[in-house]
Amino acid sequence: VRLSLLLMPGLSDPDETREEVRSKYASIALRVGTGPIAADTCCDSSCACGTSPESGSGFGAALYGEDERDSLPGATLLASLGCGNPIAVAQLREGETVLDLGSGGGIDVLLSARRVGPTRGKAIGLDMTDEMLQLARRHAAEVGATNVEFLEGTIESIPIPSSTIDVIISNCVINLSPDKRAVFEEALRVLRPGGRLGISDVVAEDRLTPADRTERGSLVGCIAGALSVSEYRSGLQQVGFEGVDITFTHEVADGMHGAVIRALKPCVPGSGPPA
Ligand SMILES: C[S@@+](CC[C@H](N)C(=O)[O-])C[C@H]1O[C@@H](n2cnc3c(N)ncnc32)[C@H](O)[C@@H]1O
Repeated sequence: VRLSLLLMPGLSDPDETREEVRSKYASIALRVGTGPIAADTCCDSSCACGTSPESGSGFGAALYGEDERDSLPGATLLASLGCGNPIAVAQLREGETVLDLGSGGGIDVLLSARRVGPTRGKAIGLDMTDEMLQLARRHAAEVGATNVEFLEGTIESIPIPSSTIDVIISNCVINLSPDKRAVFEEALRVLRPGGRLGISDVVAEDRLTPADRTERGSLVGCIAGALSVSEYRSGLQQVGFEGVDITFTHEVADGMHGAVIRALKPCVPGSGPPA
């Protein structure tokens, strides 16, 4: 698989793509609190992740366990726009530092913060949309979380020093990026050696061409920009991740799935997974 496939098909200007995405998610953030966003009316080209009539119902807070949902305020659940539950795949441990790429309203940051504990653990959310960051900070204050931080920035240029993160999580965001290779390189850079990636994302079956994916939904709706399984695997391997595992969890459109993706940063480059 050529690296060029990791660039968004058919879209030449990454800044324009990011601006389209940012403005959609800013409007969603401002609407949270006025009612369930998934029930809103929307046309295909402007749907946010999980709100398109074509994209099925495999998005949002319903993908979390009852105990997780019960532990968070309703507004945090309403703002959930993910396509899985990365906390369930990341196997977080007490004391770890977690980074959530595209943290939105903060649901996965708040759940992670609980898992890693307030004594030595920390959960960091990164998002490029100011309105989402404000929402997430409000949600964190509502639950009194002390070991969380929300940073403004893009996932293609992560504003965090190298080798400082134990676990990267992300929920339905990498498909939105116009430069997935940059995201994978940055994820590898900020992870400490032996660190791990445990994310949820929309992934296409290999049989679907980029044009097939575009037919099934919009870019901002988390469908058109999804990588195929082979593109995802080789993209992660090409930047240096090892132990890449991609498992479909539920179909969100014909041939397109919510999936969990796991990978490891080698302890020494090229040395294989940690013992
Ligand atoms: C589909 S929502 C998912 C939010 C959250 N992960 C969840 O599960 O509810 C996508 C989020 O990613 C952010 N985002 C999209 N592309 C981004 C990028 N290139 N850099 C940083 N944030 C991005 C958006 O602002 C939005 O908050």
